[in-house]
This record gives sequence, structure tokens and C-alpha cells, in this order.
Amino acid sequence: MDLIKLRSKFEELYGKGSAQTFFSPSRINIIGEHIDYNGGKVLPGAIEIGTYGIVRKRNDTRVLLSSENIDLKIEVDLSDLEYEPNHGWGNYPKGVLYFMKEYGHKIGGMEVLIKGNIPNGAGLSSSASVELLIAEMINVLYNKGEIPTVELVKIGQKAENDFVGVKCGIMDQFAIGMGKKDKAILLDTNNLEYKYINMELKDHIIVIMNTNKRRELSDSKYNERRKECEEALDIIKEYIEVDNLCDLSTSDFEEFKNYLIKDNIRNRAEHVVYENHRVNIATKALIEGDILKLGGLLIESHNSLRDLYDVTGVELDQIVDSANEFQHCIGARMTGAGFGGCAIAIVKSDKVDEFIQYVGNDYKNRIGYEAEFYVTGIGDGTREI
Ligand code: GLA
Repeated sequence: MDLIKLRSKFEELYGKGSAQTFFSPSRINIIGEHIDYNGGKVLPGAIEIGTYGIVRKRNDTRVLLSSENIDLKIEVDLSDLEYEPNHGWGNYPKGVLYFMKEYGHKIGGMEVLIKGNIPNGAGLSSSASVELLIAEMINVLYNKGEIPTVELVKIGQKAENDFVGVKCGIMDQFAIGMGKKDKAILLDTNNLEYKYINMELKDHIIVIMNTNKRRELSDSKYNERRKECEEALDIIKEYIEVDNLCDLSTSDFEEFKNYLIKDNIRNRAEHVVYENHRVNIATKALIEGDILKLGGLLIESHNSLRDLYDVTGVELDQIVDSANEFQHCIGARMTGAGFGGCAIAIVKSDKVDEFIQYVGNDYKNRIGYEAEFYVTGIGDGTREI
């Protein structure tokens, strides 16, 4: 990112003077998909691409927001933090400001310019990246940086759930806020206990593959999946005492699954229970350096998201199939909410160029437009730079 250019753009917009620069990453999820709202364990990591932001305090109550990626400037007053459909991306910062105040933290006027180096809607959680960026800016500018990161994470999720209206779990905000270089985060979404796990893939690396299929309608389908899981849980609770679907072991599930009469409801629950189980095995495999096993679990996870959870779609299925056909790829799967967006693949480091060429061509021939590829490390969480 050319920060000098971004800085001069900022001065063009808001005038000269001192300003502070922040970075907030995006995230990938290695495994544990669609279970963070079912009390499951997930294994995401922050990445080294994301959203940069420059900010300056104002002495009044105005908040001016501008983005280099989206041509929509927003100006709001702190006394008027209501969701507005025509404020587009600005609703994320507005939601964060709203809940910062609700949670008893100080807020104030500011001028902000952001620029991301991943496309919005790619499924790498650009929205959570922006939420944590703004939250950390307010933390540093108005709260002496004293608000614990986990609190900022919760505020980001709250903004998305109750301001923007997407009923996401906490995985994205947590991975982005709490990210650590070269570590995956094993997060128990039931109690927010977490552990950093070395992201050591020997002579392999992760390649991110963007289908360039926009995640249209994804928010409503996401909320629909959540409801289906709630329906499954309500039925299961009549037979066994559990708080979340992920409290069920795989053998519990096998015992009680016939009470889930509707196919879609049973399938969703089956994915959730087995995906949670896969996270445990995958974490062990990662710790033990058994990357072949990890790769196999990625493939199983994708198949389950395709066949049981129904959140993949032709583009994600194609890019994952193309990746898995490549000899030096040991496993690939969609990452994030699905319905388009990105997938990840574990690929032999010295074959990455060949891999990109092979998958890129195959995908274009079959789908009709280009995919994009990013090779980026696992990085630190949101911070002032
Ligand atoms: C989105 C949500 C997350 C999580 C994933 C699916 O990224 O924001 O909370 O549910 O989808 O695993």
C-alpha cells in the first residue's frame, strides 16, 4: 500500500495537519465454517492484507468518512447515529460509534479516509476489517488505547448484528482484532477461550483464491442458515440437554438425528456437528505437522459445506475442484460465509506459480471469467502503524 499517496489524498480531502495511520487485516478461516454461531471451535487467522485508514480528531461532533475503494462520502453527526441504507459502507463505522457509546466508551468527531487492498465482498471479511479499524481508532483517539481488544471485537460484532443486521458470529472480528503473526487462532466461540497455534506448513503455503463471484443475497441466506440451526437445536433440546448444536458429539448426533425429520434441518445440523469435530482433528494435525491430514480435512469440510450446508455454489465448487486436481495441492476449501467469495488451498511452496496458472486457466475456461489469487502471510491484528 502506498501510504504516502494515501496521506496526500487525506490532506487533499481534509486539509494539512497531523494525522494517525492504522491497519486492520482481513482474515481467512482454515477450518470450522458456519459453526461460530453454534458454539463451535474455529481456526481462523488474520492475513497481511486488509484495510488501511488515516484519521484525525475533530473538535466538534462531526464524523467525515471517505473511502478510496467506494465512491461514497458520508458525513454524520454523533447525535444522529441511525442506520441509513444509502450510507452503504458508512453504516459499519456508524454502528461501531453507536455501540462504543452504548458500551460506555468515549467517542468524538473525526475525519477518516480508508483504503483496502482486497476487494469488498470477496469473503475475507472486509466489513469486520473496517469495524475493527474504526473501533481501534476511537480507542486510541478518545480512550487512551485502554479498551481491551476483546471488547472492541464484541463491539464490532454487535455493530454488524444489530446495526447492519447481519447475524454473524464472532469469528471474523476476533481473528481480525486478535490476530498474531504466523499463528492460527483456535477459538472456542462458546466461551471465547482461545489459543494461538503455530501456522507451520513445512514446505507448503496457503494460496487464497478469489472466485470473483460477488456474494449476492449472501446476507439473507446467511441469516436463513442461522435460523435452520436454531430450528435443529430446538428439536434436539427436547431429547438431550445441550445449549448449542456443537455440544453434541458425533455419536450424540447419530443417536438423535432421526428426530430431525426435515432433510435440510438434519443436513445443517450434521454439517455443524461434524465440522466442529474436524476442527479438533485439524488442530491436532497442525500441531503435529501432519499437513496431509490437514489437507484431507479441508476437502471434507468443503464437501460438507457443499452437500449438507448448501453454501458453496458453482464458482466455489469449481475453483476448489480445479485446485484439488493440481498434483501439488494437498487440500482446498471455501473460506468464510460462502455463496461466492474466496477459497483457500494448501500448495507446495515451489509450485505456487504453476498452481495459479493451472487453476486460473481451468477456472476461466469453465466459468467464463478470471479468478484472482493472493499469496499472503498470517499477520498481526488491528493496530496503529
Ligand atoms: C461469516 C461470518 C462469520 C462466520 C462465517 C462462516 O464470515 O461473519 O461469523 O459465521 O461467515 O463460518
